Amino acid sequence: MSRTALVTGASRGIGRALVKALAARDVVVLASGRDEAKLQSLQNETGCLIYALDLGTREAPRELYARAKDALGTVDIVVNNAGYNSRKALFVDTDLEEFEAQYALNLRAPAELCRLALKDMIERKSGHIVNVLSTATLYASEQMGIYTAMKHGLTGLTKVLIKEARPHGVKVSAVHPGGTNTEFRATERPDYMRPESVAELIVHSVLFAPDDAVVHELVFRPMVETNF
Ligand SMILES: NC(=O)c1ccc[n+]([C@@H]2O[C@H](COP(=O)([O-])OP(=O)(O)OC[C@H]3O[C@@H](n4cnc5c(N)ncnc54)[C@H](OP(=O)(O)O)[C@@H]3O)[C@@H](O)[C@H]2O)c1
Repeated sequence: MSRTALVTGASRGIGRALVKALAARDVVVLASGRDEAKLQSLQNETGCLIYALDLGTREAPRELYARAKDALGTVDIVVNNAGYNSRKALFVDTDLEEFEAQYALNLRAPAELCRLALKDMIERKSGHIVNVLSTATLYASEQMGIYTAMKHGLTGLTKVLIKEARPHGVKVSAVHPGGTNTEFRATERPDYMRPESVAELIVHSVLFAPDDAVVHELVFRPMVETNF
């Protein structure tokens, strides 16, 4: 029987490539993001279900998860992929608004979706949550203080959830991609990984790992990066 998945940040970049890779493997996907036109074109291309909303509000994760349950029946897979870095700046030159906005999208929203989905998955004794983190969690990068703090926070929570979900047969995975050539940054980086390569690694190595194995942490980078 085909599995179902909720993917956030699916209108472009890694999330969009993930939806295509999952749909190609007959996973029934609900794709989410803010840009309705881009989601519509993804639906036309893949047949996925779509739901547009701003995940940065307090209520949005609950609304999105309820919509996913309505549309998919059970949600077998959640990929918390939506995320952003507002800009590169020294921490002292940032402000509380930026901190709270990044907290809302990069940490609060995925944490809430983990809580909601895990409740159901634990009851069903099956399911898989994948949190898209970053190699920024493995070293300290100047001028990326807020983003690094949020991704570190979600990495810590992911490690706890790996342990809390395990006795119930539920898989939780932390994925740490390095530089990927998406609209995440203002400038093109053709020397970075293609989003399709990142998606293929996540789908093939993590979500389609053998049943008797779980990938707890997956770290990969473009050939040009050696930040470890
Ligand atoms: N690119 C890299 O080098 C890199 C490296 C390591 C980790 N990552 C992580 O990988 C994930 C995907 O990044 P990407 O490179 O694919 O970036 P991207 O091309 O900028 O895509 C980000 C996605 O998040 C969605 N999003 C942004 N703000 C949102 C909001 N308020 N509510 C709902 N959705 C929102 C965007 O859709 P809308 O604009 O339609 O809302 C878009 O679909 C992020 O978590 C990022 O931190 C990226």
